[in-house]
Amino acid sequence: MSQQKSAVTDAANDTVTLVDNATGRSCELPVMHGTIGPKVFDIGKLYAQTGMFTFDPGYTSTGSCKSSITYIDGEEGILLHRGYPIDELAENSDFLEVCYLLLNGELPSRAEKAKFEKQITYHTMVHEQLINFFRGFRRDAHPMAIMCGVVGALSAFYHDSTDIRDPRQRIVASHRLIAKMPTIAAMAYKYSVGQPFIYPRNDLSYAENFLHMTFAVPAEEYKINPVLSRAMDRIFILHADHEQNASTSTVRMAGSSGANPFACIAAGIASLWGPAHGGANEAVLNMLEEIGSKDRVGEYIKRAKDKDDPFRLMGFGHRVYKNYDPRAKVMRQTCHEVLAELGVEDEPLLELAMELERIALEDEYFVEKKLYPNVDFYSGIILRAMGFPTSMFTVLFAVARTVGWVAQWKEMIEDPTQKIGRPRQLYVGPAKRSFTPLDQRG
Ligand code: SDX
Repeated sequence: MSQQKSAVTDAANDTVTLVDNATGRSCELPVMHGTIGPKVFDIGKLYAQTGMFTFDPGYTSTGSCKSSITYIDGEEGILLHRGYPIDELAENSDFLEVCYLLLNGELPSRAEKAKFEKQITYHTMVHEQLINFFRGFRRDAHPMAIMCGVVGALSAFYHDSTDIRDPRQRIVASHRLIAKMPTIAAMAYKYSVGQPFIYPRNDLSYAENFLHMTFAVPAEEYKINPVLSRAMDRIFILHADHEQNASTSTVRMAGSSGANPFACIAAGIASLWGPAHGGANEAVLNMLEEIGSKDRVGEYIKRAKDKDDPFRLMGFGHRVYKNYDPRAKVMRQTCHEVLAELGVEDEPLLELAMELERIALEDEYFVEKKLYPNVDFYSGIILRAMGFPTSMFTVLFAVARTVGWVAQWKEMIEDPTQKIGRPRQLYVGPAKRSFTPLDQRG
């Protein structure tokens, strides 16, 4: 608390009393408890009772909503989706089953799973007219720029699923987004390499379909490698949802005004693109290629620790995890599996990444600041080995995270207490002053 306020927790009434020591005014705030994790105190009435706002620009200590979808214990490195640990889901489930879980709260029965898979499969095609959007982009357009534009345009094609007040339309829009993202992502890749778009196939799984649309060519049959499609499916699972991260918060904020779901997801894609967020997987590969060899690792670790150097170790650190990101552990194991399958176990970038991780985890700066590899540290090495260009890495993150964005958006819309997000501020600009006419401004 600032020097003028102090907080007292009244266990009996489960409240916190804030006292403004400058004026002696106080206010009692209710404490709320979740299923697990830190309790919170509700500051909704703080301004009315004290005339003061809270101030927490990066939301480092601020909860923006109640949610039942995902829980992260940053200290222990635990990630749960509707209570199920991420490593168990990655090992035993598949991406569409995890999508069902995130959307509905429970794992599906056999019949529910078959029905959901069919619903998604039969939404994988996009309106043929959408192809014209791609032709407007330069061939060297970044695929994330294409994703932002094309996904935002979906609301111009699917008017029958934009009324957010209609539960059926919300479900149809959710299924359309989950189903069409891989198709649009694969089209963005094909457009960039000048190859023809490949239509989805209903006889393939979600991950198989995506690999087929991305890498098949009309000139010959594309053989699905089961190790690679399983790895792709697992990578989708690892990126599916992650509490109120920057892009999910962007989707919730956009949705809080009543914007249609396609526009909200386009906003999430834009936010994910940043190198501090989903753009980090692309930045990790670029960083590893810039470092180039193990003997330069020390130089870059030194730069990462230098306050005057903007360089940061991409793929390291996290707002919430102050332990190893549980997704990074599964990603590292998947990396070894994929490289072994492709016969490139000696991939120099993997060896460089592992040396970088070893040195960083022993360095007191990283230990003291609890900076560990995050989900983005190893993913790029796998994706590059699978044949994806670096510019597609964040696109794949967006494909996977769409279900998380949609599930969180749906949870917000269906919350009866939901209202438009409208934060306040600490104003530090000029006090009121009169206009100076141009001829008096010198
Ligand atoms: C994702 O929120 C989510 O859940 C995101 C995500 C998801 O699934 O949605 O998990 C996906 O975005 C993973 C993160 C990917 N980003 C990167 O790998 C980029 C590199 N990491 C950093 O930019 C940083 O760690 C962040 C952005 C991830 C977290 O930043 P915070 O929480 O705001 O922490 P900070 O920037 O305040 O850093 C704390 C300290 C600082 O030093 P001091 O100012 O306290 O002296 O640690 C330092 C930072 O300088 N630090 C780093 C560092 N990350 C933090 N120093 C060197 N290299 C780094 N990578």
